[in-house]
Amino acid sequence: MKFRVLTALLLAVFSLESAASGQETRDLVGFGALTFADNCKKCHQIDGYGEEALYPSLRDPALLANKKLLIETLLHGRSAPRRNGGEEDLMPALEFLTDREISAIIAFISNTWGDEVLLVSEEEIKAAR
Ligand code: HEC
Repeated sequence: MKFRVLTALLLAVFSLESAASGQETRDLVGFGALTFADNCKKCHQIDGYGEEALYPSLRDPALLANKKLLIETLLHGRSAPRRNGGEEDLMPALEFLTDREISAIIAFISNTWGDEVLLVSEEEIKAAR
């Protein structure tokens, strides 16, 4: 538990130092860091590199600029492996996350590992459900 809180804090601090500007965006990115730690870290790892041959790295600026692919992947998961990942351990559908949580995760990962922060409105996510 302690470790979890610490890593979440580290993530939040890390993201504050990178590209996001504006208080609202910083808040969203910070919330995204916590949400990432809770829902994504176990597969993609805290540093986003994932695990070779199992979970793909998220540290890919082209991927992190692809709004449609990110929304689709998070909401619906993958039914067949497109990258690495075995049949039994595919990217799960995470439709139980709220629109704000998904928006925050996308802001966090793009801000931290992409070229620039990708802001997706909650309405855009709702429409893709
Ligand atoms: C149970 C493990 C698991 C969890 C939890 C998980 N993922 Fe994944 N994710 C995968 C696997 C496996 C793939 C590769 C699927 C494939 O082969 O196309 C993947 C693919 C992706 C991709 C697409 C990569 C690409 O280049 O196509 C993105 C983006 C992604 N995950 C983001 C996330 C985020 C953000 C979260 C948390 C909200 C998350 N994942 C949670 C296992 C997981």
